[in-house]
Formats: sequence, structure tokens, C-alpha cells
Amino acid sequence: MGNENMKGIILHGGHGTRLRPLTHTGPKQLIPIANKPMSQYVLEDLRDSGISEISIIVGDVLPEKVKSHYGTGEEFGVRISYIHQDKPGGIAHAISLAEEFVGTDPFIVYLGDNLLKGKITQFVEEFKRSDYDAMTLLCEVENPRQFGVAQFGESGKLIKLIEKPEKPPSNYALTGIYFLRPSIFSTISSLKPSWRDELEITEALQGLLDTGRKVGYRFVTGWWKDTGTVDDILEANRLVLDDLKKTSKGVAEARSSIQGRVSTGSGSIVKRGALIRGPSIIGENSEIYSGVYIGPYTSIGNNVKVRKGEIENSIIMDDCQVEVEARITDSLIGPSTVLTSNLGSPKGYKLIVGECSKIIL
Ligand code: TTP
Repeated sequence: MGNENMKGIILHGGHGTRLRPLTHTGPKQLIPIANKPMSQYVLEDLRDSGISEISIIVGDVLPEKVKSHYGTGEEFGVRISYIHQDKPGGIAHAISLAEEFVGTDPFIVYLGDNLLKGKITQFVEEFKRSDYDAMTLLCEVENPRQFGVAQFGESGKLIKLIEKPEKPPSNYALTGIYFLRPSIFSTISSLKPSWRDELEITEALQGLLDTGRKVGYRFVTGWWKDTGTVDDILEANRLVLDDLKKTSKGVAEARSSIQGRVSTGSGSIVKRGALIRGPSIIGENSEIYSGVYIGPYTSIGNNVKVRKGEIENSIIMDDCQVEVEARITDSLIGPSTVLTSNLGSPKGYKLIVGECSKIIL
């Protein structure tokens, strides 16, 4: 099976309810981690493993933003086509839409909000050489109850996949990276919607096992992060920043202080008297003013102005303005947000907040 042309599918739909209000204005997979959209890590992992034909399955949350970021894929060195999923009918439902795109080739389905430090190259080669109908990537986790979990039989054979089990049979969770062959499509077509009205990938894989198909598994190397919540995103940001290399395309004025691994983008200025502690990243054309402190594990996007305040363990997206008499910590601030202190009326907080926001004062 060695010369098959492997294809890639990135899932870019879903409800994203746990990340509102950020998902009111764009799909969660475009939320930046260390200043790069999550799904771009996915796309680059597919590309770097030799996959050049990719289909992105977009949902109803501003799919035009996905198309405008990735376009034809030329800029990223791949060919991209798009498939529209008209409702979030589940991961297996999204996969079923790609039958025509896949044809007779083996393929990888990679959830657009899953990050993998160890990359997939080695697994791609192993899957191509194998006679598996499907191969899953498993990761040891401390809280298996929140995931699809693998149960092993004699001699380590995978025998069962159980979604969010009360009594987990192992600590090995199913990651959102699935190596598949077209035999999955007939299994999906026999699935019924689950209690949450979705076609479940765990049930599709279980269907393969139940009909005697070969389902293999591998363990991920390094960390794996599924980013459904704000805390997950901040953790992913820390994990990626842990590997950040120091680069200085921006200007650091005399008597500014840049400590540790800090990356600054072109056109950015760190002014005299500002302190930035790495690992942190500052995007392009951003300005960090005198007296500001940017603490470790912080990503500041493009065209951001931080005039006053302290920011730690946070993501501040593009075009934001910050001028506060406070320390902002563990925060995710969407694009074009203005954060200021209410100096005129010190007795209360003045808030102008959109639907489904979360404020912790
Ligand atoms: P989830 O994070 O499980 O679901 P969700 O995106 O609907 O989020 P929430 O629970 O906060 O409402 O989805 C896992 C991944 O699969 C994610 O990248 C979105 C993608 N997905 C689709 O592309 N289509 C779908 O129908 C579903 C359910 C998910």
C-alpha cells in the first residue's frame, strides 16, 4: 500500500459554545496560540508530513474568515478545497461529507483545535505501510472521564472505545487525529445520532472493530492539547511559548528591559522603561509603553497598544488597546477590544460587554 496518495481533512466547524463570546465572531480554530491560528499548526503538521491535498470542513460560524486566511493554500504550500457542513452534526458527520474528496485514498482527519508537539510524520508513514482500516493516536491523560477512552484486550489489542466513561478502562484518551481508509464511510452511514444528536467518531471506530476491521493505535510523543475551553487555550499558549525562540525584529529602546525568550515582530516598539519577561511574543506593529509589564506566557497580537498596566499569562489579540491601572492575568482578549481604567468614577466598574462575555472582577 506504499504509494498511495494520502489526503488531509481539517475539521473547522462545531458549535464552540464553551468559547463564547469569541466564537460569535469567528470559528474557535482561528483563535491564535502564540500569534498563529490553532488550525494553522494543524495545516502545517499535515503539510510537513508530506500531505499536499487538504480539504477544510467549515461550519456556519463565519466560514469566510477561514477561506480568507487559507485561500487556495498556495501561500502555505498545499492545495486546499472547502466543504460546508450546514449543521454541527458531529465529527463522523463532518467526515462523511468528504467521501468524494477522499476517493479511494487513505486520509487523515485532524481536528482544527488539536495541537500536537510531536507532529505526525512518523505516524503517516506507518499508516501508509500498514493494512489498518483506521489508526488512532492515543495520549495518556489524568482525567480520562472527559475523553473517548481506549480499552485493550489480550496482547494489547484495542477492543473498545468508550466515550466519556464513568469507569475508564485505561488512562489512554483518543486524540482528535484519525488515520482512516474509505471503509469508514459505510460504517458512518449506518450510525444513528447519539444523545447529543451527533454522529460520533468513537462509534464509527467501534463499528470498524465490531465488524472485524483492523484498527491500530499509536501513542503520541510529547504533549497533546485539545482546546475547547479558555483554560485549555491558555495552557496551549504556554506549551507553545515554552518552545519559543528569541527573535527581535522589533525595536527595543534603550533602557527597556527584555528578559528571557521574547519574540518581537517587525514594526513593534518596546519603549524605554517597559519590562517584558519571556517566554512571550509581541506581534507586528505593536507598542509597549514605558512602565508597562508584560509577564511570562503572554501573547500580544499585531497592532496592539499597551499604554499602561501589567499583563501575565494571557492572550491579547490584534488591534487591542490596553491602558489600565491593574494586572490582567489568565485572560483571553478578543480582537479590537479596548481595556481602560475608569479613573473618573473610582467607586465602580464601568463595563461595556457583549453577549455571552465572562468578566471576573
Ligand atoms: P467539540 O469541541 O467537541 O465541539 P464544539 O466545537 O461544538 O464545541 P463546544 O462543545 O464548546 O460547543 O468539537 C471538536 C472539534 O470538531 C472542533 O475542532 C470542532 C469540530 N467539529 C466539526 O467540525 N463539526 C462538528 O459537527 C462538530 C461537533 C465538531
